Amino acid sequence: MVPRKIKDEIHWMGFVDWDTRLFDSLIPLPDGTSYNAFLIEGSEKTVLIDTVESSLSDELLSQLANISKLDYVVSLHAEQDHSGSIPEILAQYPDAKLITSSKAKDILIDILSIPEDSIITVADGETLSLGDKTLEFIYTPWVHWPETMVAYLREDKILFSCDFFGSHIATTDLFVTDEARVYEAAKRYYAEIMMPFKKVIKKNMDKIARYDISIIAPSHGPMYPRPSLIIDAYNDWIEGPVQNTVVLPYISMHGSTKKMVDFLVSSLAEKGVKVEQFNLAVTDIGKLAIALVDAGTIVIGTPTVLTGPHPNVVYGAYLANALRPKVRFLSIIGSYGWGGKTVEILAGMIPNLDVEVIEPVLVKGAPSKTDFEALENLSKTIAEKHRDLGLKNN
Ligand code: FEO
Repeated sequence: MVPRKIKDEIHWMGFVDWDTRLFDSLIPLPDGTSYNAFLIEGSEKTVLIDTVESSLSDELLSQLANISKLDYVVSLHAEQDHSGSIPEILAQYPDAKLITSSKAKDILIDILSIPEDSIITVADGETLSLGDKTLEFIYTPWVHWPETMVAYLREDKILFSCDFFGSHIATTDLFVTDEARVYEAAKRYYAEIMMPFKKVIKKNMDKIARYDISIIAPSHGPMYPRPSLIIDAYNDWIEGPVQNTVVLPYISMHGSTKKMVDFLVSSLAEKGVKVEQFNLAVTDIGKLAIALVDAGTIVIGTPTVLTGPHPNVVYGAYLANALRPKVRFLSIIGSYGWGGKTVEILAGMIPNLDVEVIEPVLVKGAPSKTDFEALENLSKTIAEKHRDLGLKNN
């Protein structure tokens, strides 16, 4: 790949990864991703913002082949997909200094063994003159590590945001062209990476609202020439009302739980409540995360395996608890053979969720007429609670 011009003296570098399908051995990448670095050539100083995975360092070095002098490398975020090639870059440019936040300094030394005397730390709000251009560093902790910051290029009004506002998309588009596609990918990214930290991210949103931004340049996915697209979306995902939606992750082993799921979904739909149903045996966990961003209610469906919930459901509950969505209500449905502690175990797994628990419906064996009546009551209760809160369909 070759560098691509963004503006005079500002170039995209990095790698568009069309092939990888799992990030950090955890996160599905249905559309690949990109690792974006940015070269800024000021009248006096040249700076590289972020790098790429260490395995891609030769790619980045080849893009820098015509750059004889690099004064600074900026590390906005110490995670290896952006910092991994810093050692190779500093080896190629031994006079370059690494600029980062005070918290990132220790992390970069720990994970990459970067010599301490190569590092300059900048404070929140500190500026760096490149001659005719000025970079301002803004601390934005927990997007999504404690050390993260963004950089604002004053003269060009570009915000280099690293993971903040990113999306996992491989594309030849330097800038967003298909807003709906990028919105969906950025929502997936927010749900999987940022949502657990939404309260502190709100403070970061307030901080960057003071800046006049023409372009947001994240380190994954295309750049935003219309920053309000992603800024408005983040504000909505963080603080917007939950919707008249039930998210229903479930597993069924012999069909009884599935019959309960089918009944409940039909009953809720009849009452005007939207349902997003996810079979945890086959689902893309990222789609579940997206649905959790603004769901009003979660209903977990599980058979009892041995004495507790199905292991896939345990994973789903652990994930929901870790992601801390805004959800308001939660219930559990499912079938058991002879006993167990499914409800107690699941209830103990969601301490991070600030939810009202609606009476679960657990049935022995296949659901009976009485059990379907209990599910109908659960459906009525959910619909009423959504109506009382004024929840709307999106
Ligand atoms: Fe893209 Fe947190 O690294």
